[in-house]
Amino acid sequence: MAATASANSLTSAFLPPQGLNGSSKSLQWRTQTKQFGRKSGSATITAKFDLNSPPYPMDALEPHMSSRTFEFHWGKHHRAYVDNLNKQIEGTELDGKTLEDIILVTYNKGAPLSAFNNAAQAWNHQFFWESMKPNGGGEPSGELLELINRDFGSYDTFVKEFKAAAATQFGSGWAWLAYKPEDKKLALAKTPNAENPLVLGYTPLLTIDVWEHAYYLDFQDALEPHMSSRTLEIHWGKHHRAYVDNLNKQIDGTELHGKTLKDILLITYNNGSPLPAFNNAAQAWNHQFFWESMKPNGGGEPSGELLELINRDFGSYDTFVKEFKAAAATQFGSGWAWLAYKPEDKKLALVKTPNAENPLVLGYTPLLTIDVWEHAYYLDFQNRRPDYISVFMEKLISWEAVSSRLKAAIA
Ligand SMILES: [Fe+2]
Ligand SMILES: [Fe+2]
Repeated sequence: MAATASANSLTSAFLPPQGLNGSSKSLQWRTQTKQFGRKSGSATITAKFDLNSPPYPMDALEPHMSSRTFEFHWGKHHRAYVDNLNKQIEGTELDGKTLEDIILVTYNKGAPLSAFNNAAQAWNHQFFWESMKPNGGGEPSGELLELINRDFGSYDTFVKEFKAAAATQFGSGWAWLAYKPEDKKLALAKTPNAENPLVLGYTPLLTIDVWEHAYYLDFQDALEPHMSSRTLEIHWGKHHRAYVDNLNKQIDGTELHGKTLKDILLITYNNGSPLPAFNNAAQAWNHQFFWESMKPNGGGEPSGELLELINRDFGSYDTFVKEFKAAAATQFGSGWAWLAYKPEDKKLALVKTPNAENPLVLGYTPLLTIDVWEHAYYLDFQNRRPDYISVFMEKLISWEAVSSRLKAAIA
């Protein structure tokens, strides 16, 4: 279970949604089938799940969820999960199983196999689209309302607790209303990244996607080719600020007060069982380190001792770029990719870390980082994380900062 923190961008105020447009695009959604199905027409079973459409046109939830968000969320993110799953399972023993079975098999009792993320995200998104409708919302009725009243005390309490679950899922994930067959009760669940209540043996009833891609465009819609001032305004002025403010509140009057940020994050990491202040402390540190990893007109190839060590430890600068990009691109969900120095073997190493974690907790010295939380790039690149990573490498890295960190590390 992910640790929780009060710093979550969901607590930011929503700006008014963008205008009504894009109705013609709903035509793209018209011919899809309703259930997860496989393409037929061949005697051979091939692993082929369809990307099913939402059960309404993509502009039907305007102005609450924009068609622009759907265009990316359904048309790019959901599609990628389905396409990648099909590639992964083709010709394997998973070929021919239902999506639910694939999720349960690949969850592998909490040690997920490679197809789990795509399978569960394909299922979760379909379930999410079907959890909404035009002119939806408000209070339910009948047996559902009776059970909500019985198990949460009141509808208002349920709303409060559901909102809290969704707002405090730290990093990428989902919040759920579920039914627990074993005690015949409703329950709230929040799950990180691709996980869902099916793997806990619960029956999902309702979900909200709280990956940043689910709502980022509808907060703001400023699309520029590079890291825009709008992104910095929100990323530094809202996200980074919230981590710092919330940390200050958390440590006020405690024994952590007066310690350095680095000491606080090392103490609260607590050997991998993080205490409540860890997420805010580590995110405050990571973001400062990230800003200082960039400069105007940065990027390109480094020089001097740094380049020598990169050549020695990665074979070549080109190989390093390829491997750094791959690390940043494959950190599933929210997180960071790093170039770090490992004191024990005096070598450079690549590290990727989930959510707030960083190489300090592994005993490495961080030299360079890229933030791959979706909030870092969504306004400028939407789902195109690889493009954001390329621009970071080619236009933004401050090799001077990295070199001086290296000097300090090996001194
Ligand atoms: Fe999503
Ligand atoms: Fe960030």
